[in-house]
Amino acid sequence: MTVGTRSVLFGVHNIFVHPITVGIAWWKLYGPPFDPRLWIAFLVHDLGYLGKSSVEGPIGETHVELGARIMQALFGASWGEFCRRHSRYYARSRGLRISRLCVADKLAFVLTPAWLYLPMARASGELTEYMERSKERQAGNEYFTPAESVHLESNDPREWLNGLQSYTFRWVLKNRGADGDSIISGIVSSDIRSRDERSISERSRQPLQ
Ligand SMILES: [Fe+2]
Ligand SMILES: [Fe+2]
Repeated sequence: MTVGTRSVLFGVHNIFVHPITVGIAWWKLYGPPFDPRLWIAFLVHDLGYLGKSSVEGPIGETHVELGARIMQALFGASWGEFCRRHSRYYARSRGLRISRLCVADKLAFVLTPAWLYLPMARASGELTEYMERSKERQAGNEYFTPAESVHLESNDPREWLNGLQSYTFRWVLKNRGADGDSIISGIVSSDIRSRDERSISERSRQPLQ
């Protein structure tokens, strides 16, 4: 069983916990996710990890494609794009803008408590891969605060997680208004944008937590 399959079955992208945390994160960012199509997206967006030999790098980032194909087949091209653009690295490397699903996905990581995240990451074998990759990324990276850099270099998983969640939360606050969906036509852009604009303007004055 590959690390990607383990991740979806019982790791950090597992189909029982991750869709719920993404739903909570969406609610905090953009208001209640009443549209059932959003919940299908929360459920399928990471299914592409199934069979992947890595959850990081060029192999891992293509995990968005399966969920995008499912959403496109069910609800049309705009929902497919909504799902495809949920990975920062996938979007950036292809010159695409991230969708709001990407921001909710990142906040879901921030909201997942260490007592839940670390056992899942250990069980699937993802923890080592994530810790090594974030050490490489943080080396000389000006985006991390000095405290975050210290945590990310730590061999203690709790400290490492603390540093990465701190950085990711700052990224979410900066990118919560991401409007990658606005460049596509259809129900995603009209429904989600109008609701989100209302929600963000109301919530932008309040802290997320
Ligand atoms: Fe993903
Ligand atoms: Fe995800």
